[in-house]
Amino acid sequence: MSAVAFSEKDRRFLRHDSGQAPAPAEKAKIRDASEADLPAIIKIYNAAVATRISTAQLEPVTVASRRHWLSEHSPDRYPFWVAEIDRCVCGWLSFKSFLPRCAYRGTIELSVYVDENFRRRGIAKKLLEAAISRAPSLGINTMVGLIFAHNEASLKLFSRLGFERWGLLPRVARLDDAERDLVIVGRHCATHQDASA
Ligand SMILES: CC(C)(COP(=O)(O)OP(=O)(O)OC[C@H]1O[C@@H](n2cnc3c(N)ncnc32)[C@H](O)[C@@H]1OP(=O)(O)O)[C@@H](O)C(=O)NCCC(=O)NCCS
Repeated sequence: MSAVAFSEKDRRFLRHDSGQAPAPAEKAKIRDASEADLPAIIKIYNAAVATRISTAQLEPVTVASRRHWLSEHSPDRYPFWVAEIDRCVCGWLSFKSFLPRCAYRGTIELSVYVDENFRRRGIAKKLLEAAISRAPSLGINTMVGLIFAHNEASLKLFSRLGFERWGLLPRVARLDDAERDLVIVGRHCATHQDASA
């Protein structure tokens, strides 16, 4: 497994002094992710991998193995955004194709991750609100999230943003010794046509 190479920017991120007053979400700037953000994106992801709450990925990932994450996204179809405070990446959100068949082209899957040191400041909410308001111009009319049933924080977050529980896949994941259920949450979004009607 190749080691993660941290840039000076990431080292600044790692040194983030949580003794300072926490920066509010209003300070967070949302922008398209670039390759230079990958180490910070992956650091946030790997912290979540270890919790066994957020993702079915069981082993930490490397920057090298996830370069395709960004190349599979594009700002005008499947964006990959980071939230940045004081030039440190504190969270990210990705739009992903839901299923490959054409009829699902208006439906996307969202993933959102926030650094543990920046949680409960409204950063995920800000990212999701931006995704919902951007959806019409991306040709998206339906958003879904695939969330483990034991991921209470995420279920509350998505519910707060108007997502409803659309389905349950029982015991579809084995995380170490535990069988886990997967909840499908979803919401429809306004389309350009709705907006102009
Ligand atoms: C879930 C997650 C993205 C929330 O990020 P966050 O920036 O802390 O969330 P916010 O501060 O924007 O919270 C918005 C609302 O979500 C709900 N919420 C967020 N975290 C919560 C928690 N730990 N417990 C209960 N509710 C929570 C609350 O309703 C909250 O509003 P409030 O703070 O006014 O009560 C974050 O905990 C995370 O990164 N978890 C790991 C990754 C993950 O599970 N992603 C989901 C799978 S795609």
